[in-house]
Amino acid sequence: MLGLKVPLKDAEKWKQYIIVNNFINNNYQYLKDKNHIYFPLISEFTIIRSQGLEFVDKEFNKTKHKGTLRENLGKSLTKEELEFVKTAHDIIGSIAILEIPQDLVFREKVIAETLLQTNKQIKTVLKKADIHGGVYRTQKMIYLAGEKTKETIYRENNVQLKLDVEKVYFSIRLSNERKRIMKLIQPGEEVLVMFSGCAPYPVVLAKNTEAKHILGIEINPDGHKYGLENVKLNKIKSVDLICGDVHEVIPKLKEKNSKLTFDRILMPLPKTADEFLDDALAVSKKGTMIHFYDFLELGKFDEATEKIDKACKKAGFKHKILEIVKCGQHAPYIYRICVDFKII
Ligand SMILES: C[S@@+](CC[C@H](N)C(=O)[O-])C[C@H]1O[C@@H](n2cnc3c(N)ncnc32)[C@H](O)[C@@H]1O
Repeated sequence: MLGLKVPLKDAEKWKQYIIVNNFINNNYQYLKDKNHIYFPLISEFTIIRSQGLEFVDKEFNKTKHKGTLRENLGKSLTKEELEFVKTAHDIIGSIAILEIPQDLVFREKVIAETLLQTNKQIKTVLKKADIHGGVYRTQKMIYLAGEKTKETIYRENNVQLKLDVEKVYFSIRLSNERKRIMKLIQPGEEVLVMFSGCAPYPVVLAKNTEAKHILGIEINPDGHKYGLENVKLNKIKSVDLICGDVHEVIPKLKEKNSKLTFDRILMPLPKTADEFLDDALAVSKKGTMIHFYDFLELGKFDEATEKIDKACKKAGFKHKILEIVKCGQHAPYIYRICVDFKII
C-alpha cells in the first residue's frame, strides 16, 4: 500500500504535516528501518524530492483496535447509563473536552479515565461546566482525568496554536473556515482581524498566504498573550497584535493615520459583530472585502444583509454581497454564517 518514506531526522516534522492535512491512514502502523520512517498514507500529495522524501509501495501492519469509547465503557457502565453517555467530544491538541449529562455526573471519572485509555493522543480530559459567555466568549472547564493542565498546543493548516482552553475562546470546528478565508487572500493584502483571540486567523493567514501585513485586535489579555506567543511559535514576521476594544483601538489608529484602510477585514464575533460594522467601515475603501459573521436561523439570513445595508448606507458606501456561507451549526436550526461583501 501507499507510504511516505521520510529520513528519521525529519520524522516529527512530516508526521505533523500528514496528520494535520489528513493524509495519514490511521488503520495502519508506522514502520521504521535504520535511516527512515514509513508513514501509511491515504493519498499522495506534492513533495519536494530533494528533501529526501519518496512515495513507496509497502506492506504496513494493521493498527490494533483498542475499541471505541462506547465499547470500552460497556465494561464499567450499565446499559441504562450507556444510553445517556455523549461519546462525541472535541479534542484540542492533547485535551479532550467532554459533555457530561447531569444524570451521569457520578460516573464522570470512569468515563474520563476510559477515554484516556481509548485514545493515546489524549493526555487530559476536561468537561464543559457552562456555555461560552461574557465579552471574552470563554467557557469554564472542570478537570476530570490525566495531566492537570488546561493549556495545550493544537495543530491545523500548517500552524501550531498554543492556548488555555478555559481562558481563551477557540474552536477547532472553524479550521475549515480559516482555510476558506486563507484561499481568498491575494498577494500583498493588508488584512485586519477584529476579535483575534489567540490569533488563529492571523497566524493561519500569515503562514499560508502572501498577505503583506495582518493586524489583529483582541480585548481579552489572555487571548492577546497567547496570540503573541503563537506569532513567535510559528516564526511569523507579518503580524501585529493589539490588546484592546475594537471600538477604542480603531479611532486611535485613525487619529495617528487618518488615511488608514485595509484590503480585507474579518469580523469573527457572530453574536454582536453588527455593533462593530461602523468601525470596520471607518477603515474601508473602494475594494475592501469584509467577512461578517452572524448566528441566524435557516431562512433568516437576510437579517445579516439588512444590518450590512444599514451600516453601509450610514457610512455612505455602496457594497455588493458576494456570498453567504454556512460555516457551522450553533444550535438546532441556527447557523454560524459568514457574509462576504465588497465595498464598490
Ligand atoms: C468568537 S471569539 C473569536 C476568537 C478568534 N477570532 C477565533 O476564531 O478563535 C470572539 C473574540 O472577540 C473578543 N472580543 C469581544 N469583544 C471585543 C471587542 N470589543 N474588541 C476586541 N475583541 C473583542 C473576545 O474576547 C473573543 O476572543
